[in-house]
Amino acid sequence: MSKMNNYIPLSIPCLSGNEKKYVIECLDSNWISSVGSYVDQFEEKFSIYSGYRYAVAVTNGTAALHLSLLALNIGKNDEVFVPSATFIASVNAIRYTGADPVFIDIDPENLGISCFELQNFIDTHYSLIDGQLISKKSGKLARCILPVHLYGHACEIVGLTEIARKYSLHIIEDAAEGVGCRLNGKHVGTFGDIGCFSFNGNKTITTGGGGMVITNQNHLAKKIRHLANQAKCNDFRYHHDDIGYNYRMMNIQAAIGVGQLEHIDEMINKKRVVHQHYEKELAFAKDIHVYNSSTACDSTYWMCLIQVPTELRNKLSSFMMENQIQVRPFWDLIHKFSMYKNFQHSRMENSIYLSNSGLCIPCHQQLTEGEILKIVNKLKEFSKDNFNLPLPA
Ligand SMILES: Cc1ncc(COP(=O)(O)O)c(C=O)c1O
Repeated sequence: MSKMNNYIPLSIPCLSGNEKKYVIECLDSNWISSVGSYVDQFEEKFSIYSGYRYAVAVTNGTAALHLSLLALNIGKNDEVFVPSATFIASVNAIRYTGADPVFIDIDPENLGISCFELQNFIDTHYSLIDGQLISKKSGKLARCILPVHLYGHACEIVGLTEIARKYSLHIIEDAAEGVGCRLNGKHVGTFGDIGCFSFNGNKTITTGGGGMVITNQNHLAKKIRHLANQAKCNDFRYHHDDIGYNYRMMNIQAAIGVGQLEHIDEMINKKRVVHQHYEKELAFAKDIHVYNSSTACDSTYWMCLIQVPTELRNKLSSFMMENQIQVRPFWDLIHKFSMYKNFQHSRMENSIYLSNSGLCIPCHQQLTEGEILKIVNKLKEFSKDNFNLPLPA
């Protein structure tokens, strides 16, 4: 993901701090594997940064979600409410446990599960029996909401926690894309039982690949750590009391993570500046809408999303790629995929629109002013040629 000629990638990791120094320390000391002081440091520092008491570093964000569901004993005969408009890992993790996803439409104001749609779906399709939500269709028990904070914006998490409380549902927040985003001063991932993060190479902070689970509940943190380490009961003998996983983060990755946390604020601020540029420069570009959340959160703009008329989105996508600017259309909806098409879903109007109109454009910290200008000019050029209306002078 280094810069090649004039090509502008969607994301480039920013490893300009002490990352290299800390990795070399790992190499020099031979502490490169799953135990080491950097894993402890990264967990401690991430816990302080996010505000939840316990943090467990794991191999990736998908493993973080999987472990969280297991820790809450979610499995076969359970249902989990989740958006269809998300990256597939949010949903696959549910299926790994044997539970069924139930897809709920999003709120276009913040891109997360719509409280209105969720409540409506519950009212129509569930019975409340002895305080438990039972699906009229499947007879299964709804156990959890898995909201996703997309692209660095906070979803309507306060409303969702109220719904969860009403029906005794757990909340696992998929904050894989939400590192650094706060709502009313609280970091995303700290509203529900458990928050999950990804440190994949394209994320706001990266450890190459990696993830973190955070919670305020000691018993959940303990169980997650245990399951991530093959459910091994003691350090000396190989005694295991459950089917565990090899989901631990390596010390060498955690070393990068510690380095990243030292300059996270600077990185996020740069992304905010890039987004502001786009908003200002494209304010009058006909039919190109630079997305911003209506929720009063400190969005980090992990990705910058633009929305264009659905019939021209793919054409714009090809045009940008031809001009050496990497873009990515919003994900295809998960409830349409063959392996998920038989699960229940609410109406999906907003998700369908987003999936057909959304396009992510580069929004990383290393974009130069010249590159931003090139992206803006190409978008304006496309707008002028295809949307057929004059641009302001
Ligand atoms: C919303 C969302 N959830 C989960 C994940 C999974 O994270 P990872 O790629 O680290 O497994 C990602 C990341 O790619 C994501 O964007």
